[in-house]
Amino acid sequence: MTGQKIYKVVVVGMGKRGMHHAVAFKNNPRFELAGISTRDPARLAKAAAGLGVARTSTDPVGLCSEIKPDVFCFCTPPGARLELIKTGIQCGAALIAYEKPMALSMNVALEIRDAVRAAGVKTVVSHQHRYGSHYQRVKEIIASGEIGRVHTVYGHAVGWFLHLFTHLVDYMRWYNGGAEAEWVMGQAAGRGKLADNHPSPDYVGGFIQFADGVRGIVECGAGAPDVPEVDYWWRKNRIGAQGTEGFAEVLTGGGWRAVTRGQKGVIAGEGCMNYDLEMPPYVQDIAQWLDDDTRIHPCNGESAYKGFEISMAMLRSVIQRGQVKLPLGQGEPELDALRNVLPERPVLVSSEINRKEYGG
Ligand SMILES: NC(=O)c1ccc[n+]([C@@H]2O[C@H](COP(=O)([O-])OP(=O)(O)OC[C@H]3O[C@@H](n4cnc5c(N)ncnc54)[C@H](O)[C@@H]3O)[C@@H](O)[C@H]2O)c1
Repeated sequence: MTGQKIYKVVVVGMGKRGMHHAVAFKNNPRFELAGISTRDPARLAKAAAGLGVARTSTDPVGLCSEIKPDVFCFCTPPGARLELIKTGIQCGAALIAYEKPMALSMNVALEIRDAVRAAGVKTVVSHQHRYGSHYQRVKEIIASGEIGRVHTVYGHAVGWFLHLFTHLVDYMRWYNGGAEAEWVMGQAAGRGKLADNHPSPDYVGGFIQFADGVRGIVECGAGAPDVPEVDYWWRKNRIGAQGTEGFAEVLTGGGWRAVTRGQKGVIAGEGCMNYDLEMPPYVQDIAQWLDDDTRIHPCNGESAYKGFEISMAMLRSVIQRGQVKLPLGQGEPELDALRNVLPERPVLVSSEINRKEYGG
């Protein structure tokens, strides 16, 4: 379209998600994929050839000081966050897009939030499942009032905490009108995944008290129930809401279903998480937010921060026991503290389908 600004983008990290982002920016006429960076020169050369990008470097700082991108995007493991946020701020980007989870600790998440607020930089964190048509159908049903007054939102996933917990909480908050949490209480078991690059207890579950009085129930990992309707293990996630007159829920890899006031019996529909369908509208909403400050991205960083805070409060509850009041301040890094309190006992799995990942 004529007259619309084209935003220059640099993407750092050329793994699975970096490539998803790079392709989506490349395919959207509102963006110019101006440069890419990753640490491994061979991987960088392969990605550059595939994407048709001329400007590459293993050094993101140098690349960004040359290109001065409008959007700085990085898709790296969760240990690599704060330095890259600082790179994005220093190069003058108007928006930083990065992957969940926001950080490995509340301390780092607070630093990130404060730094981007101080710099006036917009941020987007990739909880992009919500672009799935089945996720959106559930949102529509809940928002229409067809399940009555929502009293409970819930989410569970068999994948482990730092992979999936913030996804679950993000969609639970969305289904609950974006409500903030007042307190949480959680418990955890199993040390097997503490050594992973998404370090996590094998199993975490707990309750959330939302400010609107709605109860959140969430669990993630080895003890979370199977979703037998879904074959693909990472998509065995179920997120939904119960109301006074029905329920509506999404299965990440298996459509949606509901019971509502107006319709007889269970209503259901299809849909499956699919990066190829989710990424185009996700990046389009980045262009719209850059065009117009009032069109805030659904995956904005302030909202992701709220979900991350709930997730870390759950770990603090395991460490400190009892209820944890929000908002959280600085504290002992949660995963370090957890290493001191999690019992050595192997985790108990909910189903044979979890034994390959968790033993038990
Ligand atoms: N939103 C989603 O649906 C979704 C799905 C999968 C993964 N993720 C998240 O995406 C992130 C990346 O996951 P992935 O599957 O793409 O991983 P990956 O291992 O495929 O790629 C990671 C990339 O980051 C690079 N990297 C690692 N450390 C770095 C550092 N310190 N500085 C610069 N580059 C560095 C690696 O070289 C690699 O290119 C993780 O946070 C993960 O949780 C999100």
